[in-house]
Amino acid sequence: MKSHYVEQLELGQAVKDIFILSRRNLKEKKDGTHFAVFEFTDRTGMIEGILWDNAQETVKYFKSGDFVLLNGTVNDYNGKLQIVVSSISPVDDREVDSADFLPASEENIEKVIKEIHGFVNAITDQHLKRLLELFFLDESFIMQFSRAPAAKRAHHAYLGGLAVHTRNMACLTDKLHDVYPACNSDLLMTGVLLHDIGKIHEYAYQRKLDITIKGHMLGHIIIGNDMIVEKISQIEDFPDDLKLKLLHMVIAHHGEYEWGSPKVPLFGEALLLHFIDNLDAKLEMIMHELRRNTNRERLWSDFHPLLEREIYLGE
Ligand SMILES: [Fe+2]
Ligand SMILES: [Fe+2]
Repeated sequence: MKSHYVEQLELGQAVKDIFILSRRNLKEKKDGTHFAVFEFTDRTGMIEGILWDNAQETVKYFKSGDFVLLNGTVNDYNGKLQIVVSSISPVDDREVDSADFLPASEENIEKVIKEIHGFVNAITDQHLKRLLELFFLDESFIMQFSRAPAAKRAHHAYLGGLAVHTRNMACLTDKLHDVYPACNSDLLMTGVLLHDIGKIHEYAYQRKLDITIKGHMLGHIIIGNDMIVEKISQIEDFPDDLKLKLLHMVIAHHGEYEWGSPKVPLFGEALLLHFIDNLDAKLEMIMHELRRNTNRERLWSDFHPLLEREIYLGE
């Protein structure tokens, strides 16, 4: 069990504890020698670290993702906490308790899965319902779906994050039918429930949150597409046009080419899926900033690279 968590670090504090070295970067000083900038992570968050001496030599021994024993002092850099590193040394994985490093949902995930099952049961289209059952009644799928994060960093980046993100989107979808009755609510709900299932293989979430080789090479959109195609092939007479529309929705859910979407949404349900996804992801980024800053007297977050703004943290 760790005694120093990122979330609780205070200015001036001496730190000697295990962290994940989540990033390492060597930079050159004006005199030609080097210093190193690190990111240290545990289940409560991330803090930057800086090593002034012997940086080139030290960095050689570590790669991103290694567990390290960090020795240093918490300092202030431009109003932000940072660790001035005295030393880092390697740690045997067997000394590490993974519960210290994997952030987990505060919600009861079994309850979240029950809510998702409720949405599956409410589907009236028999083909779509069968397809959803092939996933959500499959125990091994549910085991992975309940544990997977929705991201490594961007949003819902914790165990159970994928299930929470999907349930939130399903709740929003459930309310949309009254406003847009012309939309096919079964199709939209199916797209929502399946849009990110590829993440169960995109991320590693056993010892630490990371992207798998498959995730790096294919990404969750392509992986999810293949998973859906495979299950549809097991359903007799699944209509071709329904299959095409559902696959398009999954493929286009990132909405814009520059956000990694192979296609932009081409009909109403696809556009709605994209915006519901975007809404839940962005709102969670804001809520995350609020949660991780509750103990610190700050009015503004650091610049958020994905939201491209500082978040107001005041009351
Ligand atoms: Fe996605
Ligand atoms: Fe998503």
